[in-house]
Amino acid sequence: MSDYKYSTLAVHAGQYPDPTTGAVNVPVYLSSTFQLTGIGTDRGWDYSRAGNPTRDRLETALAALEGGVSAHAFTSGMAAINALVAPLHTGDHLICSRDVYAGTVRLFNQIISGYGIEITYVDTSDLAAVEAAIKPNTKLIHVETPSNPLMVLSDIAAISKLAHAHGAEVSVDNTFMSPILQSPLKLGADIVVYSTTKYLNGHSDGLGGAIIGSKPEHKDRYLLVQKAAGGIMSPFECYLVLRGIKTLPLRIKQHEENGHAIAAYLATHPKISKLAYPGLKTHPQYELACRQQKGFGSMMSFELESRDGAERFLKALQIFLNAESLGGVESLASHSATTTHGSVSEEVRQSMGINQNRVRLSVGIEDKDDLIADLDQALAEV
Ligand SMILES: Cc1ncc(COP(=O)(O)O)c(C=O)c1O
Repeated sequence: MSDYKYSTLAVHAGQYPDPTTGAVNVPVYLSSTFQLTGIGTDRGWDYSRAGNPTRDRLETALAALEGGVSAHAFTSGMAAINALVAPLHTGDHLICSRDVYAGTVRLFNQIISGYGIEITYVDTSDLAAVEAAIKPNTKLIHVETPSNPLMVLSDIAAISKLAHAHGAEVSVDNTFMSPILQSPLKLGADIVVYSTTKYLNGHSDGLGGAIIGSKPEHKDRYLLVQKAAGGIMSPFECYLVLRGIKTLPLRIKQHEENGHAIAAYLATHPKISKLAYPGLKTHPQYELACRQQKGFGSMMSFELESRDGAERFLKALQIFLNAESLGGVESLASHSATTTHGSVSEEVRQSMGINQNRVRLSVGIEDKDDLIADLDQALAEV
């Protein structure tokens, strides 16, 4: 199976017919417990927190798409990031990209730091800054690339080399790219994290998260977190993600085509400034994007002249929905400062470079001419 290309893996990895009935779709095993075959013996499952046949199929699919040893599905992206850092101990040091989803900052600052784990935020696009931040107790460097919403890239291969030389691991939040557009494990990272809520599910109808590990020890480590702490994805949500994965390569093709077209349109619009999209030659890390990614995706953000302008723009949109989240088939537009980054202070937002005028787009799979016409009429209201 691992030799197959993404479009084949997306349809078939973990998604073989049900052995007992021949059903071509993975059954949703809504069972918390399983009949045992004797004392200490079972048919492969005993209790759904530890393992569920539907979840196993999703985890097989995710591990295959990512080229990992094991995958572990959680109830949301944040539950997956929580599971990622749960095995750290008091006194360990965690380095995190400065420019990450603010929910990650909230988790790290308001919960994880309380366990005596030292956290340093670094501009991980600057290798010298990453190296300077590494300490003897650094256990994990957590990178989000491209970052949310400024689309800043971090060099996964270079950071992994640096981390490994100091005995630390690297985890990458690959949510913005999906396995189709970026393969962190192949670039040298140790662990990949997803909010499956986004492109993997793709239909904005279920929350989920996943961790994919590259080593056998990751399998033991995150299986323990699933069993001990729970937070596992429900069988029905697993089914939704499995269903979404089947069309992931196709959807990404359309997201990508639309993303390019819209970025090209916005790049010349007089009311738009500071457009961040790694597929533009003017993006400061365009060369890294070409080297590290297999496409540029459909996430982008830009500034309008004022907060009021941003509000008028969001209100005037007719196809794009003013809503948080990303990666679904429908196009979304959101005000970063009050949505994804609403949970951090204005001071932190300023330090990240996110102001009140910034709008983020998650470009969906609708017709690109219709989307451009929608943006055009909304910008006329600004
Ligand atoms: C990059 C990134 N990682 C993680 C998350 C958290 O995922 P969830 O909302 O599924 O908990 C988000 C949510 O927007 C995200 O954008």
